[in-house]
Amino acid sequence: MILENVLNILDRYHARRVSDLSMSLARHLGLSEREVGLIGQGALYHDIGKIAIPTSLLESKDKFSEEERRLMQRHVEYGLSILSVYTGEVMEAAKVIVVSHHERWDGQGYPYGLMGEKIPLYGRIVAICDVFDALCSERPYKAAWPLGQVLDYIKSQSEKAFDPRLTEAFLQIIYEGAAV
Ligand SMILES: [Fe+2]
Repeated sequence: MILENVLNILDRYHARRVSDLSMSLARHLGLSEREVGLIGQGALYHDIGKIAIPTSLLESKDKFSEEERRLMQRHVEYGLSILSVYTGEVMEAAKVIVVSHHERWDGQGYPYGLMGEKIPLYGRIVAICDVFDALCSERPYKAAWPLGQVLDYIKSQSEKAFDPRLTEAFLQIIYEGAAV
């Protein structure tokens, strides 16, 4: 895998979990195995631009100032810039995911404020899986949330941050998984 060294520096376990969840969601939505594979590979790179964000910010326990928040958001453009020299369908999928995984269904996301289905499907899929895994995990600024609380939050963000159809499908996957 190209850029393996960069993934090692970043949180590769988060990247892997987001990738696995994104593939499950894509499969559940009926996408072809080819597309499931592209999403899975591409999702590994969703936060690759964080390599260019100061560690002090990535590990900060404090609430971000407006300036820090804007700097953090630039991981999207840094990621695109890193990937721009690569070609091929996996890298094209990765670029789509990098640029769209912080867009929101209600148009309040970044970097473009795209709304609804204007946001590429791959980005809409990864957005839910990324938030889910971040909330389930410990972060420098927060403890891991209990699963029930995470699912309530995901549900509450249907039609706000997330595509409602994808939110429903995602919750179904988690409930099915949790029921096993
Ligand atoms: Fe991100």
